Amino acid sequence: MHLKDSVALVTGAAQGIGRAFAQALLEKGCKVALLDLNEEVGKASKDALDKQFDAQRTIFVHCDVSNEEQLKDAFKKAVQHFGKLDIVVNNAGVNNEKNWEVTVQINLISVIRGTYIGLDYMKTENGGSGGVIVNISSLAGLIPVSQQPVYSASKHGVVGFTRSIAMTSTAGKYGVRINAICPAFVNTPILQSIDNEENMGQYSVYKEEIKDLMKLYGILDPPIIAEGLIKILEDDTLNGQVMKITTKQGIHFHEYAPLLSQSQKP
Ligand SMILES: NC(=O)c1ccc[n+]([C@@H]2O[C@H](COP(=O)([O-])OP(=O)(O)OC[C@H]3O[C@@H](n4cnc5c(N)ncnc54)[C@H](O)[C@@H]3O)[C@@H](O)[C@H]2O)c1
Repeated sequence: MHLKDSVALVTGAAQGIGRAFAQALLEKGCKVALLDLNEEVGKASKDALDKQFDAQRTIFVHCDVSNEEQLKDAFKKAVQHFGKLDIVVNNAGVNNEKNWEVTVQINLISVIRGTYIGLDYMKTENGGSGGVIVNISSLAGLIPVSQQPVYSASKHGVVGFTRSIAMTSTAGKYGVRINAICPAFVNTPILQSIDNEENMGQYSVYKEEIKDLMKLYGILDPPIIAEGLIKILEDDTLNGQVMKITTKQGIHFHEYAPLLSQSQKP
């Protein structure tokens, strides 16, 4: 995809990885709808971006992705404002093992909903011009994490859904590529949630183990995750791929055994 003048919608764009996505997309000449629950930080981020880029290239939309109406309205506002939609990045996420249903709601259900709403606008059979959807999972979506079982489950769900719906998109000729990114630890405010009993609940006792894992894996900076996003957007051959980003191997793809064809069913 040629990114200049493409329109992107990024959830959880106020800070952290989502903020780095917005920056990278703007540097490539995109227009960006910044969606976030945190109005104060979201507006401050837009103000900061306005100092670097034409203010007309971004809008901030206050939105709780776990609220169906708000998410639909936010997409509508973005499309009405910019006139089209080419890219959706379902990035908003939380770490909450105490209120674990919220984690499933935000990290998985809202990603599925964001994908479906994105497809409604972009798929060719609805008169759309195609596009790209990128869902943010985690390394915890590929390996088990004993200290964050629900976070891990929600992120595994994102990988399974993304690979599956990408195949549906190919079969249905939607004209939309759908891929996932699985970063290792990234230096963003979410890492502070490890220290909060409110987030970790019964797993608070294992917080030192998670910190040991951070030392083992190292901590990435958000711009490399944005570099991975741009790579997926610009490479039109990528669909149903799971990009891993780690300190040791940088940006690379998770490899799966080839799927059996219908005639080879087990
Ligand atoms: N930081 C890491 O180590 C890491 C590693 C792998 C994957 N991830 C994933 O990357 C994504 C971004 O995380 P981050 O590290 O930037 O975290 P972060 O906490 O810094 O940013 C998350 C953003 O999402 C927003 N958000 C949370 N709930 C929301 C909701 N219901 N509706 C709208 N916005 C909401 C927050 O306000 C915040 O701006 C998440 O999906 C996270 O799980 C993070």
